[in-house]
Amino acid sequence: MITSADQLAAIFRGLTAADPDYLVQASGRANIIGEHTDYNDGFVMPGAIDRYLFLAARPNGSGLLRLWALDIDEQAQIDLQQPLQRQEKLWLNYVLGIADQFASKGYTLPGLDIVFGGNLPIGAGVSSSAALETGMATIWNAVLGAALDKPSLALLAQRSSHQFVGIPCGIMDQYASLMGVKDQLILLDCRSLEAQMIPADTGDYGWVLLNTCVHHSLAESAYPVRVRECRDGLAAVRQLFPEVLSLRDTSLAQLEAARDNMSTSVYNRSRYVVEEVARTLRAADCLRQGELRELGELMFRTHEGLRHAYEVSCEELDFLVEFAAAYPGVLGSRLMGGGFGGCTISLVHKERINDFAASAMDAYLHKMNKKGEILFFSLVEGTRLLNG
Ligand code: GLA
Repeated sequence: MITSADQLAAIFRGLTAADPDYLVQASGRANIIGEHTDYNDGFVMPGAIDRYLFLAARPNGSGLLRLWALDIDEQAQIDLQQPLQRQEKLWLNYVLGIADQFASKGYTLPGLDIVFGGNLPIGAGVSSSAALETGMATIWNAVLGAALDKPSLALLAQRSSHQFVGIPCGIMDQYASLMGVKDQLILLDCRSLEAQMIPADTGDYGWVLLNTCVHHSLAESAYPVRVRECRDGLAAVRQLFPEVLSLRDTSLAQLEAARDNMSTSVYNRSRYVVEEVARTLRAADCLRQGELRELGELMFRTHEGLRHAYEVSCEELDFLVEFAAAYPGVLGSRLMGGGFGGCTISLVHKERINDFAASAMDAYLHKMNKKGEILFFSLVEGTRLLNG
């Protein structure tokens, strides 16, 4: 596991016999509330966390992109003189998609040696893919002197996911990975990209992530289906209320009125989104006013919605959330990220948080026969170039 940029730079030297010209620290993200709302123009409340993917790069004087992915022990070599093609390996598409975005802006891409690795778990719902994208975008931005600001890099990375990788994701992960600020949460309006910073002041309470260490394959296949279902829900609402532009603008009354125009599952998905947008705004007020009990309640309700209406949970996540609900000192808990595995996020009294996390992992091992992982985190600055 790579835990610092210096460590990565030393490995870079070992592999390429040269010092890296560019060193990037790309952040993962946590999200307090606002799940599956970003691609519905809604609100989210993430922050960048102190789990990183480090990337080291240097022009190699050839037309080749030479890549070393340390965490998964893979290598690849891509000829940049040829049109970039989608590959079989997902990680490679995240990398090439970013290069493709810069190429399509008219830049000629020089060959680079790039080595990357870190301590951001893969498939845990903490945005290791977005960190790879924002890290690569930061490298090309520097190498090419493109001078794009961070919100533009976030949008570029999202476009890359859509156009090259083929995942119709929202903007949350790339934005949070880049735009994180120390000790702050970002209440992001995913339509306007206006962000309000909220001090992450939770007094006697703290956050902990419990990684189920499972990643069901449905995570990738169900996501585009949910995006489509939301679009279908919106289309049904718009038949009656053409002025409504997204589910974010839809009221429960409008949704009820349009209910007969949609299937039950489309109704359930849409209703979850309408409610989650409202919950996220309410959660921001709770955080500002120190109403942590209510914030915790909202998190539990989000989980219920993700489990029963949005149907993106799984038994491992449900087990951990149920365990949390019964544990003294826990105010709230829910699955975090896209679903079907990855982490739960819980808000727990600081005096109980270590006990809680250890007991939850014990119970998970004994009842589910699976080994999980505890992740404490701090909110930090987003992806940045450390030198170069
Ligand atoms: C994934 C996507 C995000 C967001 C979340 C769910 O992490 O990349 O855009 O939709 O799922 O909130």
